[in-house]
Amino acid sequence: MSHLTSTSEQQVTTAIAHLGNFSPSSDATRAADPLSLDPAIKASISVLVVDDDRTLREGCASVLQVEGYNVATAGRGDDALEQIKRKKFDLILVDLYMTPVSGMDILKAALQANKNTLVVLMTGNPSVTSSVEALRAGGWDYLAKPFAAAHLQVLVGRAAHAIMVARETSVIRDQLLKSHGNSDKITLLGISPAFRHAVELARKVAATDASVMLVGESGTGKEVIAQFIHRHSRRASRKMVPINCAALPEPLLESEMFGHRKGAFTGADRDKPGLLETANGGTLFLDELTELTHPLQAKLLRVLQDGVVRRVGSEQQDAVVDVRFISATNRDPQEAVTARVLREDLFYRLRVVPIKLPPLRNRPEDIELLATHFLSHYWGRHRQRGATPPVLTAAAMGLLRTRTWRGNVRELQNVIEHLVVLAEPGQPIRPEDVPVVDDGVAAAPEGALPASIMNEAYHLAKDTLIAHFERAYLGRLVARASGNMSRAARLASIDRTTLYRLMEKHNFKRPDAPDVEMPIAAQMEPIVPQPPVANREASLTSGWIESGLL
Ligand SMILES: Nc1ncnc2c1ncn2[C@@H]1O[C@H](COP(=O)(O)OP(=O)(O)OP(=O)(O)O)[C@@H](O)[C@H]1O
Ligand SMILES: [Mg+2]
Repeated sequence: MSHLTSTSEQQVTTAIAHLGNFSPSSDATRAADPLSLDPAIKASISVLVVDDDRTLREGCASVLQVEGYNVATAGRGDDALEQIKRKKFDLILVDLYMTPVSGMDILKAALQANKNTLVVLMTGNPSVTSSVEALRAGGWDYLAKPFAAAHLQVLVGRAAHAIMVARETSVIRDQLLKSHGNSDKITLLGISPAFRHAVELARKVAATDASVMLVGESGTGKEVIAQFIHRHSRRASRKMVPINCAALPEPLLESEMFGHRKGAFTGADRDKPGLLETANGGTLFLDELTELTHPLQAKLLRVLQDGVVRRVGSEQQDAVVDVRFISATNRDPQEAVTARVLREDLFYRLRVVPIKLPPLRNRPEDIELLATHFLSHYWGRHRQRGATPPVLTAAAMGLLRTRTWRGNVRELQNVIEHLVVLAEPGQPIRPEDVPVVDDGVAAAPEGALPASIMNEAYHLAKDTLIAHFERAYLGRLVARASGNMSRAARLASIDRTTLYRLMEKHNFKRPDAPDVEMPIAAQMEPIVPQPPVANREASLTSGWIESGLL
């Protein structure tokens, strides 16, 4: 295949002659090409080609003019900067290595002049580092020189499609703003610095098409953040399509993702597009990425590199897609690369912007806000309108704050829903009402300590912390033992006198029920932990902020 290089006019001419042979625009597959753009749309797209190499610059320009785009060129960086100041370009193709004004300088100036401009960096010296750096700086894609005219045609086709979708999203957003006074966005709850940092990063990256990798334990909110990014992106008018890479065996997942041709396997009685094609113009959410098998990783990498999709059982490239990728994993992806579970090239391509979601136990200040929100949400869902919602007592909230929450926000959500289902209208919810879901014994990590404790005098800090630990431990022990004192003492490996002394110290009420072991379902009177107000304030509440919305 011929390439657009800096070497000869002849190659460019040959490359242009090859355009008609590219399969996505051939008759056999035209119907499947989701990027087929109206000539009027192409004519409305302004492109600037910047390269100090005349052959390449003019070669590119004529390929794109033949395609029907509105093309301008610049042979020098300063000329490009002038043109960018004067006119709004939808797409800029720029050589990365130019002097004295480099491609990166032009990228920055272009995004400053118009943040919606898509900038493609062309480089004769591609490396993973320089390409990821270009994408992180806001570049839309990069193009390794030399490249075939057909490759340029596909890349610009994808960019043009993305520009069209962005225009469509902007119109819909304006209409929504006019009709509702607000656009339809996801609300994320959290005030802790670690969570806010993740949301800020999500907000920033939403405006670009950069691939995002979300890393966090199960239930930390990876999928909500993915939706947040999609809804705040220029692709919001299109779908976000989720794929769970762990949910299906390889052959089914392959056909689900890439689609299949009629007769590809038993039962394939018609051509079927895959989710990659369904996500065209929108976002593909690759959940549990590290579960993807190696053959599918290789196939996915090809789509990421040039947008071309080949359906199962197909001999040709069936479609070119314009998709933004967001992936998620609860494993350490770097470790997955080291263990050769995840291909390194795919990892770099998907992790242009990594976002880490902190576990809930490391952000106890978010628990009250989330719990209160879920309480009113589920009360509204499960109860009659007008019924007074129950209230979480300070002691119950204290217990919630000290939990390990291995299932993170999802576990908290389930616990609150459980409480709502059983609660009486207007009644207080006490610690003993809180079900024990996670019976793990993991100690609270250092990150879960109230920050203010660490700034107090040593002995005071230590006493406060020990009191905090004792109350948390007792609360949990009481719940684990379901109010049975003998059982509680045995679970904690302490004698009952020590247990009673501790309970007295922290104002835990002893149950009236006879102190004999019963089957859990039959135990009706659990112990009620009642932390004294003064202590509670010193140890539990200080350093934890009340509530807030992002
Ligand atoms: N900050 C938040 N504000 C409001 N709701 C949240 C927040 N974080 C998580 N949730 C809710 O918690 C639940 C779990 O979140 P989500 O499904 O996004 O987690 P996840 O990280 O994708 O988990 P998994 O790894 O198990 O798929 C969802 O119902 C979500 O709406
Ligand atoms: Mg998820």
